[in-house]
Amino acid sequence: MAKLRTVFRCPSCGTSAPKWVGQCPGCEAWGTLVEELDAPQSPQVVSLAGPSRPPVPIAEVDPSEFTPRPIGIGELDRVLGGGLVPGSVTLLGGEPGIGKSTVLLQAAAEVAVGGGTALYLSGEESPQQVRLRAERLGALHPHLFLAAETALPQVLGAIEAVDPDLVVVDSVQTLMMPEMSSAPGSVAQVRECSHRLVQEAKARGCAMVLVGHVTKEGNLAGPRVLEHMVDTVLAFEGDRHHALRILRAVKHRFGATQELGLFEMTERGLRGVPEPSGLFLADRRVGVPGSVVVPTVEGARPILVELQALVASSSLPSPRRTAQGVDPGRLSMVLAVLERRVGLPLARLDVFSLAVGGVRLHEPGADLALALAVASALSGQPVPPDLVACGEIGLGGELRQVAHTPRRLAEAARMGFKRAMVPFSAPAEVEGIHLIRVGTLLDGIDRLGLLAS
Ligand code: TYD
Ligand code: MG
Repeated sequence: MAKLRTVFRCPSCGTSAPKWVGQCPGCEAWGTLVEELDAPQSPQVVSLAGPSRPPVPIAEVDPSEFTPRPIGIGELDRVLGGGLVPGSVTLLGGEPGIGKSTVLLQAAAEVAVGGGTALYLSGEESPQQVRLRAERLGALHPHLFLAAETALPQVLGAIEAVDPDLVVVDSVQTLMMPEMSSAPGSVAQVRECSHRLVQEAKARGCAMVLVGHVTKEGNLAGPRVLEHMVDTVLAFEGDRHHALRILRAVKHRFGATQELGLFEMTERGLRGVPEPSGLFLADRRVGVPGSVVVPTVEGARPILVELQALVASSSLPSPRRTAQGVDPGRLSMVLAVLERRVGLPLARLDVFSLAVGGVRLHEPGADLALALAVASALSGQPVPPDLVACGEIGLGGELRQVAHTPRRLAEAARMGFKRAMVPFSAPAEVEGIHLIRVGTLLDGIDRLGLLAS
């Protein structure tokens, strides 16, 4: 490979310098210079040329070019809208320890079982470590190849040697281009290496999955810059202390980003969870104050989740409000509405809230259930065990309907619930479930007898 030169460029003003300096010589900003490959200067004048492929009427474009091929892992194929498209590049992001390497090793093995060839490039673990994990997962297959390369020329060489249908690169943060002085994991290295890999995947027509570690704050450390470069971005989420893992498509050029994959981490790798509601409600104790079930929608999937609240007198000048799996901003809003519009005396109480099972609820549809859970905890009265609640709460204490209400209620009915508290405007009846329509939060709390404390 020809020796490449690198320069340091300021992303805001475009000024470049041959060496890293603390202050940009152009715009005088501090600490902005980032290393990149020195591209040849683009010509000032662009001359006309015939298109490499003549434009065609849109209806004559062949859609089969982007036909996904199933991997063989149901929950993964579901999120990808059927499987991986040959020549496409997917970025899988998630916190360390969430199970990225595990799911991709399983995926690579399934591709091999299905008659394809897979190459797993591990820059984080030795081939021995990966083999041990593969044994545990039952993923030893003659058409699953391993290599522990991190330098880009060797990585490309391994892809050339195996000519796989699927390449897994674990992870982009370990890759490096020897020409660049930046450390592996730096924005410059991650961007340049990934750019080369994307070109390689397109040129060979093999599907590629890049692993990217994400920090606690949800940033792909470095590879945020990758999101526009790849076809698909998947996020693997979950709480490391719980078995549940949620796989979402954040971006998907070949289909919808609605679908959601649910997995359970077991002793033998990740297992799909086709019946999530049952999983979350398995350990529920009925008749306990402060517990309310919400039919939530994750992607296109309805899931029943138990919300719990506990209130206790506080010894702190500003009482504690904890939200585990519950959006802290929505909790504050719900508590303010309970205080001001319903008149519940919460100001000197600690409030703890929890979505059971390691789920994270961000949607406004969980407001009503959260408010009822707090009111139930405060009054000491349980809500009926066969009741679910969904609806968004406005600052005036009014209730608003949320999307997919019929689908939510149908799932509640399927799981044996008989009653649902919903806003007045909620759509027509759903078979098997009696609707308790309420206009305001005060009305809803009163109907359940939770006002007396
Ligand atoms: P891993 O796939 O290494 O996570 P990542 O690549 O996202 O950093 O998964 C790590 C965790 O998963 C680790 O704590 C052990 C656990 N695990 C199981 O519980 N069962 C298994 O079969 C495997 C392979 C891992
Ligand atoms: Mg890993």
